[in-house]
Amino acid sequence: MFETLEAKPADAILKLIAEHRDDPRENKIDLGVGVYRDAKGVTPILNTVKTAEQWLVDNQASKAYLGCAGDPEFCKAIQNLTFGDGSDQDGRITTLQTPGGSAALRVAAGLILRAMPDVTMWVSDPTWNNHVPLLGGAGIKLQAYPYYDNDNNCIRFDDMLAALGQAAAGDLVLLHGCCHNPTGMDLTVEQWQQLADVLADRNLIPFIDFAYHGFAVDLDADAYPVRLMFERFAEMIVATSCSKNFGLYRDRVGSLSIVGASAESAAIVNSQAQNIVRTLYSVPPDHGGAVVAHILNNSELRATWLTELAGMRQRLQGMRKLLVAALSETAPEHDFSHVVRANGMFCYLGVSAEQVARLKQDFGIYLVDSSRINVCGITESNVSYLAESIAAVL
Ligand code: LMR
Repeated sequence: MFETLEAKPADAILKLIAEHRDDPRENKIDLGVGVYRDAKGVTPILNTVKTAEQWLVDNQASKAYLGCAGDPEFCKAIQNLTFGDGSDQDGRITTLQTPGGSAALRVAAGLILRAMPDVTMWVSDPTWNNHVPLLGGAGIKLQAYPYYDNDNNCIRFDDMLAALGQAAAGDLVLLHGCCHNPTGMDLTVEQWQQLADVLADRNLIPFIDFAYHGFAVDLDADAYPVRLMFERFAEMIVATSCSKNFGLYRDRVGSLSIVGASAESAAIVNSQAQNIVRTLYSVPPDHGGAVVAHILNNSELRATWLTELAGMRQRLQGMRKLLVAALSETAPEHDFSHVVRANGMFCYLGVSAEQVARLKQDFGIYLVDSSRINVCGITESNVSYLAESIAAVL
């Protein structure tokens, strides 16, 4: 039965986990997959998560199914976190709990195909490695819009607007809410407003992938694009993830919010989404969502979580500065200043695929072929070695 199948290459990001793990060199550095690491190189479980888990052990009364849309308390809490407290005055936002942001994208793809089978979705060039396989693989027609200028390490904003100016009415535009993956370069407030004008003029529908909420500036500033689009558009889609901001990577916690033109339309979309969920994974896992709901609904835990989140964000910003300072010593003739202009975990280092291969082979430094680095892998103790190794391959 399976003799016609050929082996598939491993995912370009996930394969780095095993490659780094299997490298015996002591000074190896992992700048690959997007997980947070602290100054000791550990991906910690947040204290607030531990507390909420203990609370669940002591208080959760049942493990019975919650239903295709997940836990209503989680959905409400995430909806408020994303769109703002009390934003759903007229019942136009419907939110489902999903197994991570990836499942939110997949359920959204199913809904889009049911509603508009021939629609085109515009995705940034570049975008997260899995966007095209996940959304394109689900059957959505994709088209790229220019996003990043590799020569000048900045956003090609005019080119982006010009490309979207060619999109057909009703097309969807996939946007990264903040901490663009892989480049880390986000639009300014003014650029988001200009973009919203173009989308509105062309009658395009925003679809925001919001996987790094809280990792750029703070919860409210990072949510600006979502809230702006919500104010201006009758319909939109938002996929969120609690992998990063709650550190719940392997527990798979995310959400899908759909804004409908009316409460009636949102209810119909919700029923369709639940129908899709039933055929994909039936019901989402509960544990991580219950943890998040408990943290967000308990004022003391929520305040502590905000501090933990700020700590992660500040460490990322600190490591960016540290790397750029070290590179200014080891490679003074090269400009790496864009590294500190980027937000969140990622940015492009700006070296070639051959140089990435040499960093891996000769120095045990692991990053994605595109030269995307996860700055969480940088520590005070490895930054000099990292900067020397980068200089050696330039
Ligand atoms: C990443 O981009 O590294 C993360 O979003 C993890 C993943 O699944 O690719």
